[in-house]
Amino acid sequence: MKLPTIIVNFKLHEKAVGDCALKLAKIHEKVAQDTGASIGIAVNALDLRRVVEVVSIPVFAQHLDPVSFGSHTGHILPELLKEIGAFGTLLNHAEHQISDDEIRRSIAIAREVGLYTIVCANTPQKGQEIKEYGPDLIAVEPPELIGGDISVSKAGPHIVEEAVKLVGENRLLVGAGVCDAEDVGIALKLGACGVLLASGVTKADDPEKVLRELVSGLN
Ligand code: G3P
Repeated sequence: MKLPTIIVNFKLHEKAVGDCALKLAKIHEKVAQDTGASIGIAVNALDLRRVVEVVSIPVFAQHLDPVSFGSHTGHILPELLKEIGAFGTLLNHAEHQISDDEIRRSIAIAREVGLYTIVCANTPQKGQEIKEYGPDLIAVEPPELIGGDISVSKAGPHIVEEAVKLVGENRLLVGAGVCDAEDVGIALKLGACGVLLASGVTKADDPEKVLRELVSGLN
């Protein structure tokens, strides 16, 4: 994955699922192509195959289960994610937390099948623990700032600094409330190698405009 990067989590936001997910994914690809910026998207499992078919930017699953073929009703199979063209997966998002054991096994199986892992942590300390399991990137997101108007960069620069210290510069994303170039710029200046965000883009009236603005913060 080219760093620094901007990862947009589509969650299940209304304007980011189903046919809207395809449209929004294409907007991300267009901005990535026009600007040369590294942009990835995390889409829900039901949309993943269709999205992967229409864009060439990295597409992440929002979750996977640490299982292989067999009797696992309702689970998300890592092998299948790889087969349909997912680039990687988010894990342990604040809205889909899993046990440490599941994090460890999920990272291991993702690596085995060739999926890139971004593992979320609510605190820098949790990020430091997760680092031991060997994910590709760790995204520190204070849950209380998720979906809010004040970004982690502005409300919690000390959190970003702490996370850089505990997780390391070359594998840290930060997120929560990120919505403009300044938020991206501060995060990078403090040592993060990218941001993870959702509503700033997925709920925007003009997501392309917001994305272009966010990308300008990478420089
Ligand atoms: O996964 C990104 C997310 O949790 C942050 O959400 O809406 O605060 O950008 P948001």
